[in-house]
Amino acid sequence: IVAQFAPRCLAGKQILITAGPTIEKIDPVRAITNLSSGKMGYAMAQAALDAGATVTLISGPSCLTPPQNATIIKVESASDMLAAVNQHVAASDIFISVAAVADYRPELAHEQKIKKTADMLTLNLTPNVDILAQVAQRPQPPFCVGFAAETENLIANGTTKRQRKNIPLLVVNRAQDALGSDSNEVTLLDDHGAHPLARADKSSIARQIIQHLANLYQEAK
Ligand code: CTP
Ligand code: CA
Repeated sequence: IVAQFAPRCLAGKQILITAGPTIEKIDPVRAITNLSSGKMGYAMAQAALDAGATVTLISGPSCLTPPQNATIIKVESASDMLAAVNQHVAASDIFISVAAVADYRPELAHEQKIKKTADMLTLNLTPNVDILAQVAQRPQPPFCVGFAAETENLIANGTTKRQRKNIPLLVVNRAQDALGSDSNEVTLLDDHGAHPLARADKSSIARQIIQHLANLYQEAK
């Protein structure tokens, strides 16, 4: 790991980043979602800008102010996010998938508010497309970076996930450490192995990840 941040290490690169949660409507007033503040994704966008890249940030609902100089596209559902990614991915050199995408959505979103008449309510959920895996399967994929929040067996689960999605770099963290926090403790998994980073604030972690991925990106070319 190179601790030093080379300011122009991504100059001229086009980077696409997803951030925040997605929300999947149940009816007009209710939704299911993942717990994600968007902090790590927005910090990645800022670090990529600082490294000289041009950044498009596709964000699910978040209270954060997007970094100045990023092109921001706001979305709600996983399928909105997928459509936005598909629109921008061909022009991107690097895709960084930080979003906590909902794995399932209600099979049907009710047009009218569901009334609480029944004792028990069952929702049928249907799987969403894995956006990152789908991008990685393109004939000429951008350099793909994934994030995984795990609750146990971080390295083993992360390694399997990186292989399953066929991506060069996966950043894994403990969900309990990252959620809502301003700091994070992550391990970078790549073809060379596992590289743990010391706990630090998310902007510092983001800069270290950007530096690491810039090195791998150079290596891959
Ligand atoms: N991801 C995605 N689209 C999805 C689900 C996940 O792009 N529908 C991306 C996330 O942005 C992240 C990576 O895949 O970069 C890993 O997400 P994660 O939820 O940890 O992995 P899953 O493959 O969904 O597995 P699980 O939730 O069962 O652990
Ligand atoms: Ca998931």
